[in-house]
Amino acid sequence: MSRCEELTRASMIPRLTNGMFGPEGYRFEEVVDSTNRMAMTLAQEGAPHGTVVVADGQTGGRGRLGRSWASPPGVNLYFSMILKPELPLERVAMLTLLTGVALAECVTAAGLDGARLKWPNDLLHGGRKLGGILAEMTARGERARYVIVGVGLNVNGRATGFPADVAQRAVTMAEVLGRDSNRGEVLADFLHRFTGWYRCFLEEGFASVRAEWLGYARLTGGERVRVTTESGEVTGEALDLDERGCLMVRRGDGGILRVMTGEINFER
Ligand code: BTN
Repeated sequence: MSRCEELTRASMIPRLTNGMFGPEGYRFEEVVDSTNRMAMTLAQEGAPHGTVVVADGQTGGRGRLGRSWASPPGVNLYFSMILKPELPLERVAMLTLLTGVALAECVTAAGLDGARLKWPNDLLHGGRKLGGILAEMTARGERARYVIVGVGLNVNGRATGFPADVAQRAVTMAEVLGRDSNRGEVLADFLHRFTGWYRCFLEEGFASVRAEWLGYARLTGGERVRVTTESGEVTGEALDLDERGCLMVRRGDGGILRVMTGEINFER
């Protein structure tokens, strides 16, 4: 089987058995600019909840904060889910955290020890980036109309295959596991886990997601972080994740900052 075939509809249909991401909504492209961009277009054209767009490679993969996402063909996972949750806008950011939990569980189930989540959207191993999540939303009034949740996961090959600036900060599952994984199996397992967490979140709220996220984040309460938000930079100690999904940081003056959107960097 060629590498690309792992992800085709024919290979994936038998694996798409959990209901929310059924065969009818599975779209595979060999090359696309960005699965998030394509999923957004499909959602605008009326594609239903549970559609998932998967590409073997991307020519214009997008990361958070306007960055690009290196997307060589044949080795990694690049996919975007169309979700149409009945959610008030302030709860949409929780979907990124939920996705992180499903992703961390999925790589752990594949045998990879030591996966760690970094708020809000990074999956790390040994301080290096293993995966990332990009959630983009269109709203109708105070509620989300649809949310596109895109995931990039470094599966096979070596991080040295990425552009030089990315290579030194990245890691692949294969480098940690010492073997390649079947991308179709990893994707199907992720979708299955995501579905479980998504239903749990809608039915029971954010508490279980938060507890699981904290387990993978392993915040020590003393970890020095630099937080970049729209209103500037703050340094402090990452303490906790609050019940709304905000990162709680203790500033130097003892005050607690709750960060809803932004980026953190660990300080050594
Ligand atoms: C980040 O860590 O900055 C988020 C990276 C998200 C990358 C994925 S790859 C599939 C999907 N399509 C995109 O263009 N981006 C996301």
